[in-house]
Amino acid sequence: MTFYITTPIYYVNAAPHLGHAYTTIAADVMARHHRQRGEEVFFLTGTDEHGEPVADAAHALGIEPQQLADRNAARFEALLPLLEATNDFFIRTTDAAHEARVQSVLARVRDNGFVYQGTYEGWYCPRCADFKPENEIDPGNLCPIHHVELTREQEDSYFFKLSAFQERLESLYAEREDFVAPRSRYNEALSFIRSGLRDVPLTRHRLTWGVQVPWDHDHVFYVWFDALLNYYTALSYAREGQDLTDATWPPDYHLIAKDILRFHAVYWPALLMAAELELPEHIFVHGYLLMEGEKMSKSLGNVLDPVAVIERFGADALRFYLLREVPFGQDGTVSTLAFETRYEAELANDLGNLASRTIGMLTRYRDGVVSSSELDTSLAAEFAGLPQRVAAHFDRAELTLGLEEIWQRVRRLNRYVEEQTPWRLASEPDRQGDLDRVLASLAEGLRSVTVLLWPYLPGSCERLLAALGAPELSLADAMFGAGGIGRVAPIGPLFPKEAAPSDD
Ligand code: MSP
Repeated sequence: MTFYITTPIYYVNAAPHLGHAYTTIAADVMARHHRQRGEEVFFLTGTDEHGEPVADAAHALGIEPQQLADRNAARFEALLPLLEATNDFFIRTTDAAHEARVQSVLARVRDNGFVYQGTYEGWYCPRCADFKPENEIDPGNLCPIHHVELTREQEDSYFFKLSAFQERLESLYAEREDFVAPRSRYNEALSFIRSGLRDVPLTRHRLTWGVQVPWDHDHVFYVWFDALLNYYTALSYAREGQDLTDATWPPDYHLIAKDILRFHAVYWPALLMAAELELPEHIFVHGYLLMEGEKMSKSLGNVLDPVAVIERFGADALRFYLLREVPFGQDGTVSTLAFETRYEAELANDLGNLASRTIGMLTRYRDGVVSSSELDTSLAAEFAGLPQRVAAHFDRAELTLGLEEIWQRVRRLNRYVEEQTPWRLASEPDRQGDLDRVLASLAEGLRSVTVLLWPYLPGSCERLLAALGAPELSLADAMFGAGGIGRVAPIGPLFPKEAAPSDD
């Protein structure tokens, strides 16, 4: 069975920023970890290209929505290799195959009796030619964009009978307490459901930028229904001549942030029930990256721009920082200062030094060869069960806790060097056996943490494992004592300190 993980599909009305990169990085870390377990993985990301905001943004630029979509989708897609993201497909909701499948699923929802015709009533701006949601209306009942008075108007709409799923959604939440995590988000979704579900518009009459409703060509589907279905439609055409749906559906993890909780945790399961499709296993809601709390500065600007950070420090440093600094699932502040501090203290010092001193001593004292099969038993005890513990964190999408579990061992290995003082052993002819054991244990510990760190720091870990002559990456290989170290070869610094800016 495939491990299927998704990110939200991002709106193309603007260019990608650090927040989008964050979710994509997290999904990639999970995808890589599951590949290490030997699982078949399908990792999906992409762009959400229909709807009002995209049409409006294009209009403001004086171009067609499709042009804007093409321009920004290309930017989102180009960011992926920079982040070292290993997605298996990039879906665009303007793909013809997506549109066709949206139409067929939603026609089934209608055939099943969950769609009816009605009238949507709301506040309308004649200049925008559009309805404004209540929470976006300026005081005095004004359009927030044009500052003209809004009028009460009606639009013919087809409605989705969300209210019909009240009980089934309540039982879903009662039976599957891990459907939405963290717990606070589960509670938030459940209390929304308990407050009483109302039917929602499924189509738009006035808008043309969307997927056409097959049974009424004067309507397009409301963008959220078109968008949510990407998770399902992609599987039918991601591989030419192959339909991956049966082998891949349902998703194991949808990663989202709290802004789109209601759509994923309420509308989406109801829609799937209406279409008689299986529900996802887990929806994990991570927090928001906050950029306030720090004065705007040139270097802050760098940290906010993922591309600039990657150019200067590499993708690994960004991936590590985001998952280390902000407990995954909570909101957290990111800043240039905190980034530089962690880069230096943890990547350059903790891991970088551990790697360079281990490889340095093996090269210096033993010509790059690990010559003992005996490993320190107390160190082995401290590593026992580590891959399983990390995997257990991943099962709950606890990416920061998983990383912390590994990092404690990185620090432990540095202490081990201080305790064992291999440079002293090297100078004592009758302690050569001890030196062999210490170097072998150190190299084995380094190899183990490096395999476990690979999902977070793929490029650096591959370099390091190549230097250890031990390229194997599976979770089983992460076990302390699994061995496999060949001839160790020197490498330059993994996280050069020169990359850290001076004080500009
Ligand atoms: N198109 C919809 C999603 C449809 S999914 C069927 C959408 N797009 S979006 O471009 O606004 O992306 C929102 C998502 O981007 C968030 O849920 C989150 O994954 C990510 N983030 C955007 N800003 C973020 C932060 N500041 N912090 C963390 N994540 C952020 O909503």
